[in-house]
Amino acid sequence: MSRDSQAALAVPVIAVDGPSGSGKGTLARALADQLGWHLLDSGALYRIVGAMCVRRGVDFSQAGQQPKQERAVAALAAGLDIRFTGAAVWVDERDLTDEIRTEDAGANASKVAHLPAVRDAVLDLQRSFRRPPGLVADGRDMGTVVFTDAALKIFLDASAEERAQRRYKQLKNKGLSVSLRGLLAQIQDRDARDRGRAVAPLKPADDAIVVDSTSMSIEAVLELVLTEARHRGLC
Ligand code: C5P
Repeated sequence: MSRDSQAALAVPVIAVDGPSGSGKGTLARALADQLGWHLLDSGALYRIVGAMCVRRGVDFSQAGQQPKQERAVAALAAGLDIRFTGAAVWVDERDLTDEIRTEDAGANASKVAHLPAVRDAVLDLQRSFRRPPGLVADGRDMGTVVFTDAALKIFLDASAEERAQRRYKQLKNKGLSVSLRGLLAQIQDRDARDRGRAVAPLKPADDAIVVDSTSMSIEAVLELVLTEARHRGLC
């Protein structure tokens, strides 16, 4: 093992995994702010890969069955120049911040994310975010695959109905007209794909603390996680 990778391993990680709409993105950002640590939004990486496939006309509709399509998506993923500046996301010098946040981009992310070659292609990139003084890593497999040695693993869940409600309110507040029933169907569809896939399925790590946020405020969840972090000497 190189000296660089040994040094990286000494940097503590808090892994925050869970389904979309569970509040893990908000929790991860609040934790990173509070602790002064780096933040990895791993879902953004899969969203970027999906969006860039659409932009470049790389077909992934049959990639699960056609190795040639899977290889093309993985090659695209490996060649991207991705930069995060605050909440903004830059890809090959283009601002993709808004483009990757649509419901379609989420669905496409989930379709490219079930391809093993794509997950391999973004593994080192994800681990490169592990820098002092620490990293909060938000995703689906942070605790089970990418950072198995994380000092604290949180699996944040909430009922699909509650998650659809939260998303509905978010989109309404942005002035977008959406159907609650449609959002619930999309969430259930994405859940089924994320939980049922062969590689890195969405599930809590054996040593994760599972938190059901259905009837909890984000403040209460943050306090619970900070208490756990204090117990482990992370802050
Ligand atoms: O978290 P977010 O909704 O941005 O993630 C978009 C999609 O990317 C998820 O539905 C999931 O399929 C995929 N993903 C993943 N592994 C991660 C993060 C996200 O497979 N670590």
